[in-house]
Amino acid sequence: MTGPVTALQAKTHPVWEAAADLVVIGSGVAGLTAALRAQELGLHVLVVTKGAVSDGNTRWAQGGIAVVLEGEHEQGDSVGKHAEDTLTAGAGLCDDDAVRSIIAGGPAAVARLRAAGARFDPAAAGRTELARTREGGHSAFRVIHAGGDATGAEVERTLVAKAGDRRIPVLEHHIAVDAIRTPAGEVVGVTVLDHDGVPGVVRAPAVLLASGGLGQLYHATSNPEIATGDGLALALRAGAQVADVEFVQFHPTVLFTPGARGRLPLVTEAVRGEGATLHDATGASVMRGVHPLGDLAPRDVVSAAITRRMAQAPGGIDDHVLLDATGISGFAKRFPTVHAACAVLGIDPAKDPIPVTPAAHFACGGVVTTVDGRSGVLGLYAAGEVARTGLHGANRLASNSLLEGLVAGRRVAEAVAADLATGQLGDPRRGVLASRATVPVADRDALQRAMSRYAAIGRDAEGLSVVGSVLDLSMVESPLWTPRIVEDAALTLVAEALVAAAARRTESRGCHVRTDFPERDDSFPERDDSAWQRGQLIRLSPSGQPVLADPIALEVVA
Ligand code: SIN
Repeated sequence: MTGPVTALQAKTHPVWEAAADLVVIGSGVAGLTAALRAQELGLHVLVVTKGAVSDGNTRWAQGGIAVVLEGEHEQGDSVGKHAEDTLTAGAGLCDDDAVRSIIAGGPAAVARLRAAGARFDPAAAGRTELARTREGGHSAFRVIHAGGDATGAEVERTLVAKAGDRRIPVLEHHIAVDAIRTPAGEVVGVTVLDHDGVPGVVRAPAVLLASGGLGQLYHATSNPEIATGDGLALALRAGAQVADVEFVQFHPTVLFTPGARGRLPLVTEAVRGEGATLHDATGASVMRGVHPLGDLAPRDVVSAAITRRMAQAPGGIDDHVLLDATGISGFAKRFPTVHAACAVLGIDPAKDPIPVTPAAHFACGGVVTTVDGRSGVLGLYAAGEVARTGLHGANRLASNSLLEGLVAGRRVAEAVAADLATGQLGDPRRGVLASRATVPVADRDALQRAMSRYAAIGRDAEGLSVVGSVLDLSMVESPLWTPRIVEDAALTLVAEALVAAAARRTESRGCHVRTDFPERDDSFPERDDSAWQRGQLIRLSPSGQPVLADPIALEVVA
């Protein structure tokens, strides 16, 4: 720090500088796993996080980690079957090699986490074999869990404790604003702001985005307040490409709370995995006849079915359906987090149906990276929800996200160490602070209303163009000089990118449901201009607008 500064200086000039080999943006499972591995490899790491170190999305994950453990799995299950289920859920848009590679890394990642102290629920008291549950889209019981339905919290606890033991430096309550780049375009650090907008600079030859998702694009989400798409926006502004952003997964069951906004409590899919069923207000099954897996169909299918049923308003109810978990014995012990959230509303799942509704949950797309986190921009890496490795395609398989964070977090640290060793990364001393004066910032409330109404489950050309108009009308140009403005600018840019991709994809696939194009368009391999079994790349134009590249550039082969 350079001593006292005036408010104006604080807004315009970095008042402190730090240096590291690797700066990690975000302290969820991918970020902390990467930071720990990078330190083991001898790198100087700094973690920068918007909240406190344990405030990321990871701790809200309930259901578990999907993994097929050696000698500890359902008869006939295999890593290959887990990969097949992932590909099926991804609706033709996964990258086959990425899926097989990441899923195959799961057992070792879980073994390392257990060695680091994570405690998963045993199959029976006193046994070492782990309990396994099932979630939507899985053909076997292969989801391990902790604390009943508090798996993310246990993963986060383990990693935070280890990072503390290892004295990994963490800069809490700071938001990453923009990448610092050399004249040749290499990323060599980031600018950051604290709570009060006081700017700082972290110079590092490698920057890892592990900043999570974008659920705050919508009024109702399972994500925490910090999930505002900042990493995606930073990557776009740094010259990276993003893909598959139109595929926002809506979790079928968050707890319905009349009038509530923001983060809503999740009702884990594992509740259905253990026998609960979805009904409308007349008692009719929501999922009967919709999919062979019934209530355990992949998430996109269940969320869309609930949305259709709510639109029909059976029994006069159009904002939720009911999850009947009364047949699950010992509900409070098996699902303590869900039980506690229900109790706040006076609901006892042992006796009462749980009112549930879909809400924004997970970004299946993100910054285009290899399976070890390299983006197309030298020095910029991404891992976890902010990255698009090709694992999720058009719809993520349940409980694959903690797994991806563990596997990709370790691999990206190893990629950074290798890139540093070969001397190919940029020199932080040559970094030039971005001179961008202002960026477009839309009003958050107007954006969330428009996105929730027109760009959630069930989109059409007209509605998507309304979102575009709402964004245009509410946008002002602003410098990125407070954390709130950085977040709102990110939401604005990501909404623009999502709407552009959703408007061009004239079909329904996975999480992207077009009411004006209700069919999936798979005319591959004949392939004509309307065949959609391919991803869409987005980058920023020189004037800062998200532009779609030729979709064939990211073609994936079934
Ligand atoms: C859940 O427990 O239903 C959510 C876990 C996930 O998103 O994979």
